[in-house]
Amino acid sequence: KVADLKGLKQGQLRLAVITTAKYFIPRLLGPFCQLYPGIEISLQVTNHEGILERMTNNMDDLYIMSQVPEHLDVSYQQFLENPLVVLAPINHVLANEKNISIQRLANEPFIMREPGSGTRRAVQKLFDEHGVTVNVKLELGSNEAIKQAIAGGLGISILSRHTLLPDTGDLTILDVEHFPIKRDWYMVYPSGKQLSIVARTYFEYLMDAAKQIAEQTASISCERHHESS
Ligand code: PGA
Repeated sequence: KVADLKGLKQGQLRLAVITTAKYFIPRLLGPFCQLYPGIEISLQVTNHEGILERMTNNMDDLYIMSQVPEHLDVSYQQFLENPLVVLAPINHVLANEKNISIQRLANEPFIMREPGSGTRRAVQKLFDEHGVTVNVKLELGSNEAIKQAIAGGLGISILSRHTLLPDTGDLTILDVEHFPIKRDWYMVYPSGKQLSIVARTYFEYLMDAAKQIAEQTASISCERHHESS
């Protein structure tokens, strides 16, 4: 039951996003809610596998994810890049090296996301392509926990660069060959599903807001450039 009276949009918006999208999606909801105070939002944050399950059961209006599902009939739109980078503590021995060989990562204790994670799948694929076997010291189901573990010196890991928003904290991005892993974020919904006015409004809002996020993220890599030069 969506009403669009005098431009005042009302109704419910159900979003499900992958874990790395939580670094910017909730923040963007603030201005959106101010623009449309009549819209009530529920936001689920889960990993790639969790999103597929929710989509299969038609539980949400829109999904934000990095890998468009291959076995489901969906409509999708790319809205932002989602590069995966190698993260280490700021004082790591490789922190100032250039063009580190990917094989070199095998010597480092590695922190891996849980099975079902899209990040893990992308990382594993790249390692398989280059015959690299990393030494997984720790498996963690949370990007934030991984960042803390890296800062604590437990090992290195590979995460979305957006997990560094709003700042890099105690971490640095290592300059490793074949990185960043190029990925993108997509807004996805089942083909043939009629989007509500509210969902369409959000879709357009996000496409626009993505431009600002792209600028912010670009400034992360600039900061790093200044530090190392
Ligand atoms: P994840 O999502 O939480 O499943 O790793 C990130 C991604 O798929 O890029």
